[in-house]
Parts: sequence; C-alpha cells; structure tokens
Amino acid sequence: MVKKKTCVFISGNGSNLKNLILKSRDYNFPIIIKLIVSNKKHAFGINYAKKNSIPFLVVNTNRRLFENKILLYLKKYKITLICLAGYMRILSKKFLNLYGNKVINIHPSLLPKFKGLNTYSRILKNSEIKTGCTVHYVNEKLDSGNIITKKIFFIDPKDDEKLLKIKTQKKEYLAFPEAIIKIYRNY
Ligand code: GRF
Repeated sequence: MVKKKTCVFISGNGSNLKNLILKSRDYNFPIIIKLIVSNKKHAFGINYAKKNSIPFLVVNTNRRLFENKILLYLKKYKITLICLAGYMRILSKKFLNLYGNKVINIHPSLLPKFKGLNTYSRILKNSEIKTGCTVHYVNEKLDSGNIITKKIFFIDPKDDEKLLKIKTQKKEYLAFPEAIIKIYRNY
C-alpha cells in the first residue's frame, strides 16, 4: 500500500501524535508521518519527533508568516493529510483553500457540543451524562467541520476534570486512527 504522507500539527503534550506514530508503523495503516509542526518551542510532543527521527519544524511567529512557511514545507514533503493533534490555533481561509478537505482535527467533546477551550470543566458544570471525542474535517470556524467519527462514554458521578481527560484521551487514541482509516477506506 502507498501510504499517504502526513503532517501532524501540535502545540503541547503530543500524546495523540505519539499514538499516531505508533499506528503508522502498521503495514496496513494508511498514513506515514513525514513532518511534525509545532507553534510552541517547548511543546513536549516535539520529543516524539526527535525520538522517531521525524523532521519537525517550530514556527512561533504570527499566523500569516507561520502558514506561509509551513506551506513551503508541506510542498517539500509532498504532504496530503494534515492532522491537528492539540494544535491550538485557527487556520486561515487561504490555508484551508489550498489544503481543502485534507485537514482533520480531534476535539475532546461530542461535537457540536462544547466547542472551544476548557471543555472538561464545561462538560462537568453542565452535568452531562455522556461525553467523548470527535474527529472532524477543519473549516474556518472553530470545531465546526464535517464529522468523521465520534467515541462516546458515560460520565461517572465521581469523575473530575482529571479523570474525564484521561478517559477522553483513551477514546481519542482509538478515534483518530479509526477516522484516518475511514477517510482512506475507499481510495
Ligand atoms: C486532545 O485532548 C485533543 O482533543 C485536544 O487537545 C488535546 C491534545 O492532547 N484538541 P495531546 O497533545 O495529543 O496529548
């Protein structure tokens, strides 16, 4: 199988990145991670790039300069899929026009509920019965593109923000690879 050359954008911990790197080693998994981009110099996730000898780029300038630079690298590495994994910035219309429906994001709630930041505290405050995560295509609006896949679980009354995050991320490690397989199933 010809694996699709993929770039992962991060801003922080990179546990989803780590998981995708692991999955991409499977012969049958449809992508290979060729480039990692961070807009934060000290993002922990950069360590996974180093450990796995994957080229990475830190660009912590304003959005326009960031995107212009990234676009050159995406071309250089012939990237056909961009995974946003904890990337905390909105991409411009210009960028998305160029990359069309090739940008996907993972969000720690059951979208369209709880878009944006501080997701776990808002979910708890709202006394939700269930939650989960969503992988979706990215458009110019925050956490609003077409949904590819969701994973759901029931909230335990004892769950606090920390537990909710652990449980949600466990689902994320299933959802992101599943969404990628779904995208390329018919190719
Ligand atoms: C994930 O929970 C994801 O849903 C959100 O940011 C978090 C990133 O976590 N967009 P990590 O950096 O992959 O550990």
